[in-house]
Amino acid sequence: MRQSLRAGISEKWIGTLSEVQSAVAGDLERIALHIDRLLDSGFRPIDEVFVHLFSKTGKMIRPTLLLLAADRGKADPEGLVSMGAAIELIHTASLVHDDSIDSSNYRRGVETLNSKWNHKTSVIIGDYLLAQAFSEITRLNRIEIFVELTSACRSLAAGEMRQMAMEGDLEATEKDYFAFIREKTASLFAATCSVASILSGDRESEELKEFGLLFGSIFQITDDLLDYIGFSPDTGKPTGLDLLERKMTLPLIYALSRMDEAARDQFRQAFSDKNGISREQAGHLSSLVIEAGGIDYSWFRVTELARQASGVLESLSPDRSEKLKKLVDVIVERDR
Ligand code: FPP
Ligand code: MG
Repeated sequence: MRQSLRAGISEKWIGTLSEVQSAVAGDLERIALHIDRLLDSGFRPIDEVFVHLFSKTGKMIRPTLLLLAADRGKADPEGLVSMGAAIELIHTASLVHDDSIDSSNYRRGVETLNSKWNHKTSVIIGDYLLAQAFSEITRLNRIEIFVELTSACRSLAAGEMRQMAMEGDLEATEKDYFAFIREKTASLFAATCSVASILSGDRESEELKEFGLLFGSIFQITDDLLDYIGFSPDTGKPTGLDLLERKMTLPLIYALSRMDEAARDQFRQAFSDKNGISREQAGHLSSLVIEAGGIDYSWFRVTELARQASGVLESLSPDRSEKLKKLVDVIVERDR
């Protein structure tokens, strides 16, 4: 089913990611194979959608985080492979639904399900993936893991709603932004770290969970930055979509707080235009965001969060913390 684990992502960045992933390459391959097995539905219309959906698999960042965060001397290897697959399926389900919500046509350079099939298919396939993930989680029979991952799914949905409620709201604050990225993105990274901790039999799991929250926030801010500065090979997506969708992300929220009334007014008018925002207009608004320091400030926040994440890792063994620090570096470096 898989053509390549990493298709659709820039070669340069993949080189760096591969270096970090090399420590767990065998298990990542096992996770990918396990996903293939879990997606064999035995019903052709569903299998056809999966062949398309996984024709270019993602970066496997969450399974990588799970494997690197685990204490490899203590964690059950089969449990790690099983949970790595389940977490990647939850993530994929959320992207299938997200693309439908956003009416996006492409992801990782591949047509989305809503575009190639229709929105009904996206809803059903997202549900199927989620159900399959939870059937795998149930098989493990560890209630603490079940609790972590159900709670993360609830947060994902709540975060998506929170972001939607803020669309086009020029009064949105940084605090609002951090609240919704914590839910819609960081919660699954935090749960991934908790699962690593549980499977490793750690006595303390709070530090790793905190690291997951910081890591997830860094991940989402860099994703939101990419949308403005446009290095589409890294994501396989066209850039500049967030402004068209009136999404209140950090570069825009910060820039608005630094602009004069005349500049803010241009956003007010564009966001209230019933005909929507043209690509040309989005290009102009995007340059206002960059001029007002939205990108520089977002980088500053990423650097600050990366420093905090590094601090949180101090309590872990040097082996675990070194690898996780490198993974943070890879995420921070992906669009510079
Ligand atoms: C991508 O964000 C989307 C998410 C991180 C979460 C989406 C969550 C849902 C749709 C709720 C459903 C939840 C489950 C568990 C099925 P983005 O739009 O900023 O990223 P993108 O640029 O990659 O699209
Ligand atoms: Mg989206």
